[in-house]
Amino acid sequence: MANVPKFGNLNGLKVVYSAVEIAAPVAAQMMAEWGADVTWIENTYNGDSMRDTTYVKELERRNQRSISLNIFSEEGKEVFLKLIEEADIFIESSKGPVYANRGLTDEVLWERNKSLVIVHVSGFGQYGVPERVNRAAYDQTAQAYSGYLSQNGTQEQPMIAAPYTGDYLTALMVVGSSLAALYNAQKTGKGESIDIAMYEVLLRMGAYYMMDYLNGGIIYPRAGARHQNLCGIGVYKCKDGFLSLCLYGAKQNKALLERIGLGYLWGTEEYPEGTSALWLDGPKAELIEQKLEEYLLERPVAEVEEDFSNLKIAANKVMTFEELPEEPHFKAREAFIEWENIEGKKIVGPNIFPKFKNNPGQVWRPMPTLGMDTEAILNEAGFTKEQIEELVEKGIIKKS
Ligand code: COA
Repeated sequence: MANVPKFGNLNGLKVVYSAVEIAAPVAAQMMAEWGADVTWIENTYNGDSMRDTTYVKELERRNQRSISLNIFSEEGKEVFLKLIEEADIFIESSKGPVYANRGLTDEVLWERNKSLVIVHVSGFGQYGVPERVNRAAYDQTAQAYSGYLSQNGTQEQPMIAAPYTGDYLTALMVVGSSLAALYNAQKTGKGESIDIAMYEVLLRMGAYYMMDYLNGGIIYPRAGARHQNLCGIGVYKCKDGFLSLCLYGAKQNKALLERIGLGYLWGTEEYPEGTSALWLDGPKAELIEQKLEEYLLERPVAEVEEDFSNLKIAANKVMTFEELPEEPHFKAREAFIEWENIEGKKIVGPNIFPKFKNNPGQVWRPMPTLGMDTEAILNEAGFTKEQIEELVEKGIIKKS
């Protein structure tokens, strides 16, 4: 914990991870922003492939410390096991059960640290059909395999839910499950091993309409920019921009029908008082959609947003990147902050979320260079200067 400042709800928590890109590292990132001491193990050749991105790496590796280590060499394994002795959580992401296949089973790790929470992230899990389990998987792969991708897009063309939705949802699952396991490990002294298959994260998160199929045989058409089965939900074109509209609730339906000149439908047999959903296969649904589209096309989006919001209808202009930094509400809540990267260049990016009142997060350091903390981390783990130099010479570790 030598140079990690004390702050946040995870102050004192030690997380070690070895993974590339988004899914697993972003979980460690969130914990780093909430005060954990996060050690980022990178391979000794190119490091994390995230280093090839332009700016997002600066956001998703801030507050971390980098050690460059060949985990799977004989001596590297010993260094790795030393690192996890003091850790609370170890997260790795690989093409299936790579750690176990290379002799680093959960049991071997628990021999060194019996209360360790181990998180394995993979596309398809640690076991199952062998030729599936060992495959590489990115967000899109998991979206495709889980049926998530088939739900988004137009009728002609399934489309990816961007950006990297499967990776970021996986990251949230890693955070939640590892802290749940830690809660129990701290009570019992016994660790846990968590098998997170990205496709299963998306299977769970994409199950809303799947439940209608599994239990009722219903398949809705892919709806594109609109909702599968309700009126007034989706992205609509206004005079000067797009509106995201989510019409739901009796009071809201009545108000909207009145606005678009169809108030006479309310309180009838077709639309009795208290109707909370306007179904696309309901009476006069086509007319409702047509009138709504006409109404919106004639009006500026900001005006509609304000008017509908006053009517308690959930409506929001579809904001563009250019508009975000100037948005007064963003400014009032400091949604964006600035920090300096390791070269002293100003970086702008999202603040730390959520906002904890009593123990807020902090950005205390930019993304380190590859292996920048190798020496410091190994010193803390008890390695002498001579041992460290020997490991460097043998190519087991790298310093920068
Ligand atoms: N020391 C020694 N070897 C290391 C290492 C380290 N610190 N870190 C990784 N390696 C090895 C891996 O075991 C692997 O060896 P192998 O190909 O012989 O099995 C090799 O280096 C490259 O591994 P990896 O970093 O996983 O890169 P990749 O390009 O082969 O695969 C993914 C990348 C993301 C497709 C793969 O890691 C994966 O499927 N992960 C699980 C799901 C996931 O997280 N997807 C990405 C979401 S953003």
